[in-house]
Amino acid sequence: MAAGGKLLSSPATQIKRKSVAGLVTPKLDKVRVGFMGVGARGSGHVEQMLAIQGVEVKAICDLYQDWAENSAKKVVEAGQPAPTLYVGDPYGYKKMNDRDDIDIVIIATPWEWHTPMAVDAMRKGKHAFIEVPAALTIDEAWELVDTAEATQCHCMMMENVNYGREELMVLNMVRQGALGELLHGEAAYIHDLRGQMHEEKRGTGSWRTVHYMTRNGNLYPTHGLGPVAQYMNINRGDRFDFMSSVSSNSRVRAEYARANFPEGHKWRKGKFVCGDINTSIIRSVMGKTIMVQWDEQLPRPYTRHNLIQGTKGCWSGFPGKIAIEGLTKNTDSWVQGADLAEIYKKFEHPMFVKQGELATKMGGHGGMDFLMLWRIVYCLRNGEPMDQDVYDAAAWSAVTPLSELSVANRGRSVDFPDFTRGEWKTMKPLGIVDPVI
Ligand SMILES: NC(=O)c1ccc[n+]([C@@H]2O[C@H](COP(=O)([O-])OP(=O)(O)OC[C@H]3O[C@@H](n4cnc5c(N)ncnc54)[C@H](O)[C@@H]3O)[C@@H](O)[C@H]2O)c1
Repeated sequence: MAAGGKLLSSPATQIKRKSVAGLVTPKLDKVRVGFMGVGARGSGHVEQMLAIQGVEVKAICDLYQDWAENSAKKVVEAGQPAPTLYVGDPYGYKKMNDRDDIDIVIIATPWEWHTPMAVDAMRKGKHAFIEVPAALTIDEAWELVDTAEATQCHCMMMENVNYGREELMVLNMVRQGALGELLHGEAAYIHDLRGQMHEEKRGTGSWRTVHYMTRNGNLYPTHGLGPVAQYMNINRGDRFDFMSSVSSNSRVRAEYARANFPEGHKWRKGKFVCGDINTSIIRSVMGKTIMVQWDEQLPRPYTRHNLIQGTKGCWSGFPGKIAIEGLTKNTDSWVQGADLAEIYKKFEHPMFVKQGELATKMGGHGGMDFLMLWRIVYCLRNGEPMDQDVYDAAAWSAVTPLSELSVANRGRSVDFPDFTRGEWKTMKPLGIVDPVI
């Protein structure tokens, strides 16, 4: 079955290149950064990076002068020289990548720019840190893998949720075997984002809404899936094998457009084709199952599910609760709320123990954004491998194009490419890292 125009089972890219599993690059004394995209997300990254020791912001690239200047002002206020601005040209990032005083780029642009920007950066010797999702098609996912391997650059999709306090604690709990052998997970991005449609000219809604009008599947899988994939050692002892996906009817965005925008408006001219809620089921090669849901429009409280279930017990998020044989009173009822304090005390991740207070103070989705950026800088300065690599970026992002394919074919299963080219069998699971600070 083809997705994005290439055979999944025998990609043209199967020529053996040097793997980047566990990639370690020379320690950087200073981490010199170029930013691509400083809208809602990228501007937050600029502010947080400025608070991390050893970071220098050298350049900023964006379509809008005022947004680039707002972020440049933050750099100067932090006591650093004014960064060079590349403004107005959608390909200005290429000029920025030509510089030889930038070590890494942080990409927070609309989705269709992620892969081209990261590939250009890596080809010019820069490590690429990409917002989610890293790739829109299977071809793009392979292009990231191929380029990272050819250039031996880091290519990390910045899945910030993997740095949430709850997710880190659950990872530690799973690593200690508290849930037994893992069998099943549930992940989601369920977030009513209809209000973004009011960003008509620029901002997230201006480009994201177009995706709901042109594609049908799970359009944003990685926030829920990233942590579950790490609990399950995906690409490090196991890998995604195949997936089936179904979407419901598309209803509420068209209703929202009719209620909020005049006749003839661009949101009323087109048709919303993406089902309001998508449900995908993945099975791994080693026999684990994962449900991944997506719904960015129905009226419902936010959730990422964050459920992980094994032979001894289960953790379920939103709100967090647990039942474990031999550890909690029984497995017929959940331990939750204030009673979880003991569980957190027992399983808190060492990274959160050390940096959690600062991360919570710095904020960004409750501190996960800061902790992720801090950890990236730590790894670059100490010559340590990233916690998420290009194979994770490719496999987690692949859910979207594969779900589109499955939805279009009555939920028929589609195979995941093995982006590791067999190395998942020998790659070691991500350990419980305890940074020295
Ligand atoms: N991890 C998270 O929690 C999280 C949260 C929000 C957004 N995101 C991701 O961040 C990314 C950006 O989202 P956003 O909400 O900030 O969108 P946004 O529209 O607010 O910002 C995008 C920015 O990219 C700039 N841009 C567009 N094309 C460009 C080009 N060719 N060259 C240079 N700049 C360009 C725009 O001018 C804009 O400033 C998306 O990939 C989104 O999925 C992640």
